[in-house]
Amino acid sequence: MLKENYDKTDKTKFHFLGKEWEVVKKITAEKALKPDILIVEDKEQFLVAKDFRSKAWIARYLWGPLNICYEKFLLNKLAGVARIPQVIALEDYNCLLISRIEGDEIKKCSHLLAHDFFDQLLKIADDLHARGVLHLDLGHKSNIMVDQDGNPAIIDFNASLYLPPNSLFRPLINLLGKVDRYSILRLKIKFRPQDASPAEKKGVEKFLRLRKLWIFDRLLRKITNYAKNASSHN
Ligand SMILES: Nc1ncnc2c1ncn2[C@@H]1O[C@H](COP(=O)(O)OP(=O)(O)O)[C@@H](O)[C@H]1O
Ligand SMILES: [Mg+2]
Repeated sequence: MLKENYDKTDKTKFHFLGKEWEVVKKITAEKALKPDILIVEDKEQFLVAKDFRSKAWIARYLWGPLNICYEKFLLNKLAGVARIPQVIALEDYNCLLISRIEGDEIKKCSHLLAHDFFDQLLKIADDLHARGVLHLDLGHKSNIMVDQDGNPAIIDFNASLYLPPNSLFRPLINLLGKVDRYSILRLKIKFRPQDASPAEKKGVEKFLRLRKLWIFDRLLRKITNYAKNASSHN
């Protein structure tokens, strides 16, 4: 999980797009390969910077630019889709500017959810899949945002996958799209168990059983744990 420092003592102004912006929130990633996240404001206009510029050289010159290039590519594939961030610009080859999603992470305001929150979330996932983008990290509660009316939005596309949405790849998109759908239904069972149907509960149980058997999942967990331990020793 991302370890966060809400850093208020640091610089309070940042220079983006040729002007000064006030820092509203800065999340300094402790992991070597994660960007710092800056939410900045100027005259009630907000933007978010995913910024590798102050990281160690491998993240600054290699991992960061690749990571940013990939996320920008995916977000461009999703241009115009509602309730996800839009690309604003590249401030640098290792600093991506995107639109801010208003609200807070679901784990911090689960009491605010609109009655059809999870139906709306499934609809956003369908919109992503229609463009050939599989998010694949919707189980992570910090990637689901809730606005002040309790409606959802999805962020963080850097673990996502793009497959051309043509007749050749459509069956695979539909199959892998189930990972997103069941991740959402799993959150529904966690946050709104009373609204989840028996079929949804059964489907999620089956999905979790299958996931446990999937060798790549175990491999991925091993790699993630290894990376976590390595970064906490740095
Ligand atoms: N477009 C955005 N609008 C609002 N908050 C955001 C946005 N992008 C990121 N954040 C905030 O920063 C956190 C980390 O960003 P994220 O893109 O999920 O990166 P990571 O790969 O480090 O998880 C999010 O959980 C959210 O609180
Ligand atoms: Mg995230």
